[in-house]
Amino acid sequence: MQLSDKKKQLLDDVRKYHHEAQPERPFQPGVTEIWPSGAVLDETDRAALVEAALDMRIAAGVSSRRFESQFARKMNRRKAHLTNSGSSANLLAVSALTSHVLGDARLRPGDEVITVAAGFPTTVNPILQNGLVPVFVDVELGTYNTTAERVAQAIGPRTRAIIIAHALGNPFEVAEVAQLATDHELFLIEDNCDAVGSTYDGKLTGTFGDFTTVSFYPAHHLTMGEGGCVLTPSLELARIVESLRDWGRDCWCEPGESDKCLKRFKYQLGTLPAGYDHKYIFSHVGYNLKATDIQAALGLTQLAKLDEFCAARRRNWRRLRADLDGTPWLVLPEATPRSDPSWFGFVLTVAPDAPFGRAELVEFLESRRIGTRRLFAGNLTRHPAYVDQPHRVVGDLTNSDVITEQTFWVGVYPGLTEEMIDYVGSSIREFVKARS
Ligand SMILES: Cc1ncc(COP(=O)(O)O)c(C=O)c1O
Repeated sequence: MQLSDKKKQLLDDVRKYHHEAQPERPFQPGVTEIWPSGAVLDETDRAALVEAALDMRIAAGVSSRRFESQFARKMNRRKAHLTNSGSSANLLAVSALTSHVLGDARLRPGDEVITVAAGFPTTVNPILQNGLVPVFVDVELGTYNTTAERVAQAIGPRTRAIIIAHALGNPFEVAEVAQLATDHELFLIEDNCDAVGSTYDGKLTGTFGDFTTVSFYPAHHLTMGEGGCVLTPSLELARIVESLRDWGRDCWCEPGESDKCLKRFKYQLGTLPAGYDHKYIFSHVGYNLKATDIQAALGLTQLAKLDEFCAARRRNWRRLRADLDGTPWLVLPEATPRSDPSWFGFVLTVAPDAPFGRAELVEFLESRRIGTRRLFAGNLTRHPAYVDQPHRVVGDLTNSDVITEQTFWVGVYPGLTEEMIDYVGSSIREFVKARS
């Protein structure tokens, strides 16, 4: 048998194996786990992983390049760079703004970056990791996003950039914030890790700023196991990101290439001798935050299902939202006006004057195997890691505190069926009715 036929046979077997290894099980209320999030992997994903292994494509290569170009097209951005996580994508985006390549526009230590207090830590960490100062603003209950008005109030003489996540898939007022950024000459980074496929004013989130970042951890809209991506419309910013991602090198040859610029031995940079191999000239103090081709191979099969995944998230969210409408003592989630979110989760806040607390409701749901999660860190400024870090707070963080104490979310990811969503809804209603 020819090697290519052997491979085809092996991959056919893998697809069959997939159905044996993952048989469909009927939903049993109270017994079947209803995860808040998770990877949705089918036979094509399993076969793609095995094929990458059969080809022994281990370091970034053909699938990585294909993924970067397909994903950039899908997200309407000129350039995409794969990374090993969404956190790395944020680190690269913020770090790129400090590059000497940007001249006077670069961010310098002590410069301020506006962000929100309630969210995921690695949206904020790269600010501190680059010697910059986070300026925290509060968010709204219901949308869990900040407002352009709050961002405007936070702009001071040292403000140079804004990095905000679209909260749990719900877009913030990104067109207005982008306008503020333009008016005040600020860079804008959209942390789109939880919002791939969401739109604001009919435009995809992630297409308003200088950078957008994505995570491919299993909880997210697409998965590679671990992974992330930085996207930008700017070739200059893309080149800086690539350098920082790839050890800080000046050369932009792909792995396996060696003289794309046709000047490999013709540069003289820094105080290096003329003709020093460009492959080993470093123009940034960089990292290695690359992903592997096995991850990218999975990314490609996942990307083919993105529209379907986003549609399922929207369907599940709407079903649960309709079911819970009018339920007392709960702040139900609301899409930001003019947006169409590709939801990450269904956020609920127990009203502070409710006759029950979040802990009891969460405990009840978990006892029924309905998984819950917190709105990540809640108010980050209250965590031990941030207490002594330089930062500024503009306005108060009242809602971030309410989120810390009263908020949680349940899943809407595509792995959940209508039966499961209905069970989540009826369980919440049953609990509230019994306690009211
Ligand atoms: C808004 C946001 N930003 C960044 C990240 C970090 O992504 P990763 O887990 O891939 O590092 C997450 C993770 O869930 C997130 O929710």
